[in-house]
Amino acid sequence: MNKVVVIHGPNLNMLGTREPDIYGRETLDDINTTLHEKASDHGWELHCVQSNHEGDIVDAIQAACLDDTSAIIINPAAYTHTSVAILDALNAFEGKVIEVHLSNVHKRESFRHHSYVSLRADGVIAGLGSQGYHAALAAVLAVS
Ligand code: DQA
Repeated sequence: MNKVVVIHGPNLNMLGTREPDIYGRETLDDINTTLHEKASDHGWELHCVQSNHEGDIVDAIQAACLDDTSAIIINPAAYTHTSVAILDALNAFEGKVIEVHLSNVHKRESFRHHSYVSLRADGVIAGLGSQGYHAALAAVLAVS
């Protein structure tokens, strides 16, 4: 069975109550549940990980390198703008990588305009809210 891993970075466990004007009112569970349903409708296994810790995210990427995962959908949140460690881990992953941001980071503070992860990502989606995750999953399902 094809596998896709969805990785959510720091503070995304607070979705629903965290700055809802920017990030929306859906919870992470709402988003993950819909992604699970869509993936299983297509006969895919989908695994979701959320962590507030950079090393845990590196560990999740390394696990995906070792278990035949076909694609990673990742919202690295604040680590997008700082983490060479997450970029290095993704560089070792051979499948498809889609980077997702709920907000349009390019409309926001200048420190959010640079993404280390974009140096590896095959596709980047920003500003579509939770629909960005669904678009990313649709792209993974379509091309794999
Ligand atoms: C985010 C944008 C990041 O700049 C921010 O640190 C986040 C969420 C987004 O989904 O829009 O935590 O990745």
